[in-house]
Amino acid sequence: MIGKAHSYLVAGFLIGVLVSTSLFAFLVPQLREAQRSRDDVVLKLAHSLDQQHPVHQAMLHMADRLAELSGGSARIEVFPNGQLGSEVECIEQLQRGALDMTKTSTAALEGFVPEFAIFGVPFLFRDEQHAWEVYDGALGKELLHSGREVGLSGLCFYDAGARSFYTVDKPVLKPEDLKGQKIRVQESKTAMELVEALGGSPTPMNFGELYTGLQQSMVDGAENNPPSFYSNRHFEVCKHYSLDEHSRVQDILLITHSVWNRLSPDIQAWLQEAADESAAFKRQLWQEKTAEVLESVQEKGVTVYRPDRAPFVAKVKPMLDAYQGTRIGELIQRIQGTP
Ligand code: GCU
Repeated sequence: MIGKAHSYLVAGFLIGVLVSTSLFAFLVPQLREAQRSRDDVVLKLAHSLDQQHPVHQAMLHMADRLAELSGGSARIEVFPNGQLGSEVECIEQLQRGALDMTKTSTAALEGFVPEFAIFGVPFLFRDEQHAWEVYDGALGKELLHSGREVGLSGLCFYDAGARSFYTVDKPVLKPEDLKGQKIRVQESKTAMELVEALGGSPTPMNFGELYTGLQQSMVDGAENNPPSFYSNRHFEVCKHYSLDEHSRVQDILLITHSVWNRLSPDIQAWLQEAADESAAFKRQLWQEKTAEVLESVQEKGVTVYRPDRAPFVAKVKPMLDAYQGTRIGELIQRIQGTP
């Protein structure tokens, strides 16, 4: 009798051990996973560009690299196409803590950090090489960090090439051709002044609304770099693209300063590395894409012009002169003095 009771006890004990061991084996990885995902860093990044755009591709590259470098513990979720708001709205969301990162044009940033107006100053850079010297040099670094006081840290610039005019009906071959044309501009005082100085009528409009704006004749034209002209399909409405290359407004990748400060030193280093790599990746991609899209739009019926830039440069001289003695004037001199 005792022998039987004993074997029941032993069997019960063994079953108990077996059940708790398997339960333990089943639960531990789940608990670890839950702990891991609680500790994981997921950064939300929103921007206004289309998924075909090289700058969007560069940001996906950055997200992949960050996930790789951090072994998956830090990730970036990218929301393209203005789904979370216009560029200005995204910057405001960063300041409110509703969004962690955004890629914006420096034109939209001008209202928050006035120094960024420098990139909208027309005909400032001699050529692409000169622009790269500035972006990669001491001034570029200073500007990246110049938004900290308003809670915005720059991680890298995505060189956005040069902006040129495109119009529905009348090509812009000389400044006089802008007379009477309503030209969509970014939400930037400098962009307004530039179009005004050239004789056009500047009309600020959100980038996401521009296609419809062109289609419904709310504006007669706009200005942008070739990849944006292409990826947002503005070429379907605007059949004249005049490569006057009047400005080199940059794209910049921002993170909320307080979010950056909360990241561990390891994650900060990985994120910076991933951002720098993505900027280099984008620079390569940009040149290929620009040549490709210029060819493509011509096949789709757009006439591409290369107007003489001298009359445009002469027309904006008073605008440049007016910066003398200001902070922007000081930056202009530094850029002009950069070899
Ligand atoms: C460029 C830039 C965008 C910006 C757009 C605009 O495409 O990359 O960030 O929104 O110009 O004209 O608004």
